[in-house]
Amino acid sequence: MTGVLQGKNLVLGVTGSIACYKALDLASKLTQAGANVDTIMSYGATQFIPPLAFRSLTHRPVIVDTFDPDSELSIEHVQLAEKADLVVVAPATAHFIAKVAWGFADDPLTTTILATTAPVLIAPAMDGHMYENQATQDNIEKLKTRGIRFVGPASGHLASGLTGIGRLVEVPQLVGHISALLGRDGDLAGRTIVVSAGGTQEAIDPVRVITNHSSGKMGYALAEAARDRGARVVLVSAPTGLDDPAALEVVKVRSASEMRDAVLEAVKGADALVMAAAVADYQPADVSDQKIKKDSSALTIELERTPDILMEAQGSFLKIGFAAETEELLANAKDKLDRKALDLIVANDVSKEGSGFGADTNKVTLVGKSGEVEDLPLMSKHDVAHRILDRVKALLG
Ligand code: CTP
Repeated sequence: MTGVLQGKNLVLGVTGSIACYKALDLASKLTQAGANVDTIMSYGATQFIPPLAFRSLTHRPVIVDTFDPDSELSIEHVQLAEKADLVVVAPATAHFIAKVAWGFADDPLTTTILATTAPVLIAPAMDGHMYENQATQDNIEKLKTRGIRFVGPASGHLASGLTGIGRLVEVPQLVGHISALLGRDGDLAGRTIVVSAGGTQEAIDPVRVITNHSSGKMGYALAEAARDRGARVVLVSAPTGLDDPAALEVVKVRSASEMRDAVLEAVKGADALVMAAAVADYQPADVSDQKIKKDSSALTIELERTPDILMEAQGSFLKIGFAAETEELLANAKDKLDRKALDLIVANDVSKEGSGFGADTNKVTLVGKSGEVEDLPLMSKHDVAHRILDRVKALLG
């Protein structure tokens, strides 16, 4: 495990909203990623979820009451405030936000927030009108000017039965924001990295496309890993079944030419371009305006070349390409490295088990500019991403 959450001390504040049930999943995901999660619950939160639920997921005591005479933890919230790498409050009610804005310290959570110097991330969840109320908005503004970060709320179905703003953002988004915040001073801080991902779609007619089996997982893993090492990341993504990663810029495209335009724009001033996308080499020469109807004869579609994005992208940034091959892995990869003037190429044999499209693992060989070859064992795409970024870091100097 090489993730930014590994070994980090996190305080998870939970306040009284029905969205508390999502905080259980958050506690579980953070713990699974290797973080030490100390939960502090407001009295209201304990009315929704028993503290034992958090204790069972985090394997650590849960703090619920400052003045519990039987608790060894009665002053520990100050220690927690000291050792925390980050305090996240999810869900945060309007009442809780108001208390923090006015500097109250009448329970363990508000006390911890007053006492900590760690970054604080607040994820509000409340009725839409409560969120929009000027009192809440003023409190949020006040906290933002003091450096407290907010994520959400999102819009959608609310527990009140209404639809609108006020939902707690989803757990993967929360984990992404927490990771980005923890990694903000990482070894790629100050760098801009453009990553392309997914398989492009070339339209034949309004309902049909030519595409490939790329899942986008390798590119998304690279974008998230670069974000967690402090980089500013622009992810240029062809269609995938994946959710947008949090805390980075996502530019959605469909075709190779759309990807070309987006990438050429994004690389202006960037430090590196990592082309993990499976870009179509050919597109239909004519795209039919109407759905093509079948008849008894065969159909021939004329294809023309798409732009080669890595070839066209010129500048002072590093260029990293991928070579997904089914034969002659090294020879093909070296040929692409030279032809496209790359600094590094990531070669993988997509016919091998565990390295194919859609897998969560990959077995790659890194080939550098001067021909040096680094064979990596089968590992998660997340770990492969970090090994590639280690090389990017070294090349950037
Ligand atoms: N690539 C690109 N623009 C294209 C095609 C590919 O920028 N039109 C990039 C890919 O994102 C990848 C690298 O070039 O990083 C190699 O892609 P690949 O499809 O393996 O190679 P091709 O150059 O298309 O050669 P071939 O299809 O003959 O293997």
